[in-house]
Amino acid sequence: MVEGVQIPLLLKPKQDHSNTNTINVASLVDILKANKDAFEDMLLKHSAILFRGFDVKDAQEFNDVVEAIGCEDIRYVGPAPRTHVHKRVWTANEGPLSEFIYYHHEMVLIKEFPTKVILFCEVPPPEGGETPFVTSWGVTERMLKEFPENVREMEEKGLRYSFTALSKNDTGSMRGRGWEDAFGTSDKVEAEKRAKALGMDIEWLSNGGVKAMLGPRQLTRVFPNRQNRKMWFNTIVGMYGKETSSAEMADGSKIPSNVVERCGEIIEDESIQFKWEKGDVLFLDNLALLHGRRPSLPPRKVLVATCK
Ligand SMILES: [Fe+2]
Repeated sequence: MVEGVQIPLLLKPKQDHSNTNTINVASLVDILKANKDAFEDMLLKHSAILFRGFDVKDAQEFNDVVEAIGCEDIRYVGPAPRTHVHKRVWTANEGPLSEFIYYHHEMVLIKEFPTKVILFCEVPPPEGGETPFVTSWGVTERMLKEFPENVREMEEKGLRYSFTALSKNDTGSMRGRGWEDAFGTSDKVEAEKRAKALGMDIEWLSNGGVKAMLGPRQLTRVFPNRQNRKMWFNTIVGMYGKETSSAEMADGSKIPSNVVERCGEIIEDESIQFKWEKGDVLFLDNLALLHGRRPSLPPRKVLVATCK
């Protein structure tokens, strides 16, 4: 419970023992199609909705659920290695299961980001592998309480980020995709054009890789229909002071490391999670929640779709 609201809202089929019909994905699809607006309101209220027990079996059935709510698809742009599975459905992230994928709003640095992230568990991991999430406004509130001055300064100045990506031709590259896949082209001039359209400046590196710079970006954002809450819509903890990425204020001044460290503790402290079960479908409000992926033992298969 967060401020009297259940997150995630858990929805299961009604147990009706007199009815011998088995509950299947068709019933969930019908319910969603008939109640689009009510579902939208429910998701705004709860930020996360978990459908369990509807026997969603595969990417095809998951796609039916996604299409039932009638939202438009958005093309993924970002560092995660993903494979197209079926229609709107992709693998969530094929990065090594032993790694923690740090909390983020999906495509937070791109100009156009999804409003919803929808996940489907086809193969639940034997251990670990949860998809923890955090109320983004909760992080802002706690940061404002502990670091009012720093938060104000970062809000006023804005932020800038940088990251480097190798070329896919670099066989030493263990993680992520090369810039060719990220920008969908092997042509450098075209890549520059596409980067610009996404709001990034890029610089070519002597190893064939690329350095991307983004900014200024806001620290927090307020979105319509979300109670005027200030969302912690940034990725400073994930990108600050890393070998392949950085985060600083837009005028070049440093963010104090204790502020970033404490923010990481607050995010972890606020995190909500559950154990994935086969057939689970989780809707996340990408404008209100940060999400991540905990390390797990194999196998684990979680598929994803996103909405404009
Ligand atoms: Fe994600």
